[in-house]
Amino acid sequence: MSRVIFAAAIIAGVALAGAASAGDAARGQEVFKACAACHGERPGDLGPSLVGVVGRKAGSLEDFRYSGPMSRAGWTWDEAKLAAFIHDPQGVVKGTKMPFDGLAGDRDVEDVIAYLASRK
Ligand code: HEC
Repeated sequence: MSRVIFAAAIIAGVALAGAASAGDAARGQEVFKACAACHGERPGDLGPSLVGVVGRKAGSLEDFRYSGPMSRAGWTWDEAKLAAFIHDPQGVVKGTKMPFDGLAGDRDVEDVIAYLASRK
């Protein structure tokens, strides 16, 4: 029986290590301060809610008026699409009304996505 527990502990450890290498959500929360002015979950904010954005269809919130290009984007936000968009919003969604030049650092982008993924 103790062997089973030991094996389970190793598997849990590997899973945790894997999650940590994909991005640091706590650090990402700090990076998110650059986004919170527009994505602060307040009524009337300039940007749409990002709670649950990982796995959500782009431009799909009923209560937000997206630009034409964002509402026609057609994809579902996964980590790769988010990384590309956060690096270069205008390059990925040409004509987006998100007035933000993007984050340059790979680590900042990875960490902010880990933070977004933690907000369901
Ligand atoms: C100055 C305001 C502003 C800032 C700063 C900003 N955004 Fe946005 N964001 C917007 C607006 C406005 C939209 C809607 C874009 C459209 O409709 O074309 C948007 C859209 C998005 C979307 C698409 C959401 C959806 O529902 O499809 C994501 C993802 C996103 N922003 C992430 C971020 C992240 C991450 C940051 C910080 C690194 C950030 N934004 C910073 C204003 C902003």
